[in-house]
Amino acid sequence: MPVYHPPRITPSHITARDVYLSRRHFLGGAAGLLVGAGLFGAPARAAALQTIPGPHGTDEPLTPKDIVTSYNNFYEFGTGKSDPLNRSGAYRPEPWTLTVDGLVARPQTFDMDELMRSFPLEERIYRMRCVEAWSMVIPWAGFPLRALLDKVEPLGSAKHVAFVGLKRPEEMPGQRGMFQPMRWPYVEGLRLDEARHPLTILATGVYGETLPRQNGAPIRLVVPWKYGFKGIKAITRIALTEHQPPSSWNMMQPEEYGFYANVNPAVDHPRWSQARERRISGGGFLSGSEHRPTLPFNGYGEEVAQLYAGMDLKAHY
Ligand code: MTE
Repeated sequence: MPVYHPPRITPSHITARDVYLSRRHFLGGAAGLLVGAGLFGAPARAAALQTIPGPHGTDEPLTPKDIVTSYNNFYEFGTGKSDPLNRSGAYRPEPWTLTVDGLVARPQTFDMDELMRSFPLEERIYRMRCVEAWSMVIPWAGFPLRALLDKVEPLGSAKHVAFVGLKRPEEMPGQRGMFQPMRWPYVEGLRLDEARHPLTILATGVYGETLPRQNGAPIRLVVPWKYGFKGIKAITRIALTEHQPPSSWNMMQPEEYGFYANVNPAVDHPRWSQARERRISGGGFLSGSEHRPTLPFNGYGEEVAQLYAGMDLKAHY
């Protein structure tokens, strides 16, 4: 099993924003100017974040910021890919609190600012594979979920972690009206060992700034070896439970969306193949995408396969 080496934090690791920007070159060209001007919806509150380099990086080219922040799934704002950007203007992700409770010795409600101060933010550049067969490479800023879990001291009886999103129809137009694609709030879950895995993070930023609304402000889950729908956005509560918690997509279509949702080229979605994926890489809006084979566990098999030793991953999809 590969060993996780937590990054050492030294002052030289704190990257100034201008250095970060020039290193990543992500604001190059006209797209960068548009993003800088906020035309792709970065909210006015977006603040630069200081991050330390995190482990598990990749040299694959990043998906441009304008695509990462404009091609989204966030059904609270509608089911179209541009709805989260275009229909989230009324959403107020601050002030915000996150409650962590359930089977823990020290249940706590954290204020978002306090949370941001409590944990050093790491830059985690991860592949993200949507169950819809597109993928991106995204530079998140966040901290390991297990650091937060350690603070509340899970009891021995805790075996799973449940996540709860936000129900606020007055700010979330996708939660209003007759047609509702799902029950609100959005919910998700992990096994405790998955939640404690070093790859699993709570992200509070992307591309060196606080998360824009459409990407799940102010805090979301990122589990890079699983399909993107596990990455619940706008989390209000995390509860440690004994039994497997419900998950929104699984409740809607259990035969299409399993609880585990590990990226697996050998298990097709009932309506399409998962053997290949479309890497959205830019060069014009969605025009620069490239088809490539899907990797088991989204390429993180060395790190996570042992979590599922002895399990039939076709049955536990
Ligand atoms: N979280 C909430 N609260 N609501 C959602 O509709 N969609 C999920 C996930 N988290 C969703 C959510 C899906 S299907 C995907 S693929 C990812 O968010 C998309 O994340 P992104 O828009 O930042 O790429």
